[in-house]
Amino acid sequence: MAQEKRESNSQSVSAQRRSFSVRTMEIADLAEVYQLGAMNFKADLWPMLYRSWDEYEVTTLFNTDGDYCLVAENDDWTPNSKDQRIVGFVLGTVISKPGSAWSYGYVLWLCSHDDWAREGVAGKLVDKLVEIMVLEDGIRIIMADTDPDNHRAVRFFNKKGFSDTKPHLYLSSNLEHNPHYAPLLKKSRAAAQSAERKKKKKRKVLASRWGASNVDEKKRLKKKKLKKRKKKKKKTGKI
Ligand SMILES: CC(C)(COP(=O)(O)OP(=O)(O)OC[C@H]1O[C@@H](n2cnc3c(N)ncnc32)[C@H](O)[C@@H]1OP(=O)(O)O)[C@@H](O)C(=O)NCCC(=O)NCCS
Repeated sequence: MAQEKRESNSQSVSAQRRSFSVRTMEIADLAEVYQLGAMNFKADLWPMLYRSWDEYEVTTLFNTDGDYCLVAENDDWTPNSKDQRIVGFVLGTVISKPGSAWSYGYVLWLCSHDDWAREGVAGKLVDKLVEIMVLEDGIRIIMADTDPDNHRAVRFFNKKGFSDTKPHLYLSSNLEHNPHYAPLLKKSRAAAQSAERKKKKKRKVLASRWGASNVDEKKRLKKKKLKKRKKKKKKTGKI
């Protein structure tokens, strides 16, 4: 099945380029896909991207949108080679609005390995994704988003005909210094401290109870021992 879905780039690109195949993502790919993403979606480059890139992003999309999770695999990779196996991936989704006949395709995450830059990896991945979305879901619009400073990606998407650009504003606030919500933060901290105090108190009570019952138990055993010894002495006539 995976073999059927596999699509090699070898016919479409020049001979000196390395060969890779695009196929649907499998469980065995998850860790490598996460690692490759972690190398690329870095906080200093694109803060908004980094914040939501984690293992759960990969596993959740694999479970909910598995048909739109594709990887590019190095055709020459062998278990003993030092080369990377997964050289790129794309994770997408289809959005259908209730009451609207239109569905939208969304390129959520796209990435190719640095060693494979400009070899057509991302291009092939996006082509395949759009093909699946058009043929199987009837999408008419495809969307992608990235930081405006991510020139590589902007150029890539422009080259692929994504030209209807709309600026989007990300707003954030450090709640510590936000006059509207700082009191909420204080309240939450006070609640956490009070819960911690209660826990400590409970632990103390339990510890003292355990200690007391321990002493009682020791006394009981000592008494039992003495009684036994007395009984023995009586039997042997020593008393
Ligand atoms: C953007 C990215 C996906 C492109 O992957 P790729 O496999 O190199 O892309 P392709 O080989 O299929 O396409 C190459 C085209 O992309 C653009 N591009 C790629 N790297 C570029 C670079 N360093 N400078 C300028 N344009 C670049 C160009 O349009 C290029 O076409 P050209 O070589 O004819 O000029 C890749 O650089 C990447 O993974 N970046 C980090 C993650 C990211 O930004 N993802 C997108 C947002 S989720």
